[in-house]
Amino acid sequence: MVTPSENTPAKFYATTPIYYVNAKPHLGHAYTTIISDALARWHRLIGDDVHFLTGTDEHGLKIQQAADAAGLAPQAFADSIAPLFAEAWAKLNISHDDFIRTTEQRHRVGVQKLLQACYDNGDIELDTYSGLYCVACEAYFTEDDLVEGNCPIHKKPVEHVEEENYFFRLSRYGDRLLQWYRDHPNSIVPDYRMNEVIGFIKQGLLDFSISRNSFSWGIELPWDSKHIAYVWFDALANYITAIGYGTDDEMFNSHWPVDYHLIGKDIIRFHCVYWPAMLMSAGLEPPKGWAVGGWLLVGGEKMSKTTGNVVNPLDLVDDIGLDGFRYYVLAETPYGADGDFTYEGLIGRYNSDLANNLGNLLSRVSTVVGKKCNGMSPAPQSDSPLALPAAEAVRETMARWADVQPSRALEATWQLIRATNAYLENNEPWKAEPGPALDAVMGDALEALRIVCILASPAIPETAQTIWERIGMPGQITDQRLPLAVAWGGYPGGIAIDKGEPLFPRRKLTEN
Ligand code: MSP
Repeated sequence: MVTPSENTPAKFYATTPIYYVNAKPHLGHAYTTIISDALARWHRLIGDDVHFLTGTDEHGLKIQQAADAAGLAPQAFADSIAPLFAEAWAKLNISHDDFIRTTEQRHRVGVQKLLQACYDNGDIELDTYSGLYCVACEAYFTEDDLVEGNCPIHKKPVEHVEEENYFFRLSRYGDRLLQWYRDHPNSIVPDYRMNEVIGFIKQGLLDFSISRNSFSWGIELPWDSKHIAYVWFDALANYITAIGYGTDDEMFNSHWPVDYHLIGKDIIRFHCVYWPAMLMSAGLEPPKGWAVGGWLLVGGEKMSKTTGNVVNPLDLVDDIGLDGFRYYVLAETPYGADGDFTYEGLIGRYNSDLANNLGNLLSRVSTVVGKKCNGMSPAPQSDSPLALPAAEAVRETMARWADVQPSRALEATWQLIRATNAYLENNEPWKAEPGPALDAVMGDALEALRIVCILASPAIPETAQTIWERIGMPGQITDQRLPLAVAWGGYPGGIAIDKGEPLFPRRKLTEN
């Protein structure tokens, strides 16, 4: 057995929800995926052995109905939509290591193994379900859950269903879950979401149906092929089937338990109550962590096909640029809270943080070095006044990424940009004569920019690499490792600076 040592990188396994293939990728999907991507990139930067998973949720009644409406068989329908997610993630520079589709064989094998393990443990039993169901949520509701007789999320009528189902005995897990959360008080971030989960468990847990027999688009139960697995039982299992549960024990053991499931607040009960109970039943460890995000609202409503207020993220990329869009998603809203997407907000954030701060710093530095240092960069001073703000920015940025608070991490990184712009304004190198004093200021600014590039790279990977190259740094920024790479003094100086085109030209609000 290998014992972890100081030289063995920590493993970091993170997941996005898997997205239903009834709708094309929209801004809401992009939101959670970009946050997860930046977190995965951050962990690569600090040297962790990262595995980052995303994918698509392809079974269940909702997909079957969407396929029927499109006049396609469910598999053909899923095959037509799943690649749109893969393409969107490629365009958004998402660095996932794996993309699972729940119609894959590896998933089927793993889901059946999980079902069998819970069944063998005596937690799955046949019963009759009679109650309410929302197909858009793929969730069961009680009368009390409804708002004016409708689904509280989709505001649409629910269906009455009555069928013989297999039930998972969730009611047996209340005490075990409460004890587990007492033992792992920091497992849900932001911490206020933990109260919601505990409150829900304390209300008393009801058994839930884990099979359906009135339609066939799903994975058969291994002991009763008349039934297919309930889509949420199937979907949650993706987090283990993708890493080899049922097909590759070694891989599974090296990744599980997951470090963070990144999810939206709408699916917290499934992830923080049902899922750990299912895992306990199967003799597996619960996740180490959940990072629960709010909704990105459009006109005050959650974006969804059902609500009809869908914004295509790729249109925004065409408009504001890839990193302009990624930065907005990461910086605008504290993770956990709801955010309101507005076009004005997108442009405003771009102009203030990217054009006026980062872009301006780069253009000032490259212009002055071009004009007054013959285009060759000076080296930083070891006792630079910027060394302290740089160290503070590094410390704070690291702490905020560790809390899964990208907006605060970026705010900390941007403090160093502001400090460097202020340092230039105080010293006015554009007015100074060439010479050692000017060189010292410019070397310091270049070093600060080098550190900013590394710290900002998980959020704006493409731009960070471009700036890296313009200031003459060799290789890939993704090969840099914290904390060594961001220690003050790493910029060598004596290299040619490439002025290039402005990276973030200011934008005007158009009539969009
Ligand atoms: N397939 C299930 C998840 C199964 S995970 C085992 C599902 N899919 S979904 O496509 O409807 O949405 C998945 C997630 O996308 C949401 O829970 C949320 O994380 C994210 N978002 C979808 N719309 C969103 C917003 N408008 N805002 C922020 N996140 C949103 O539920």
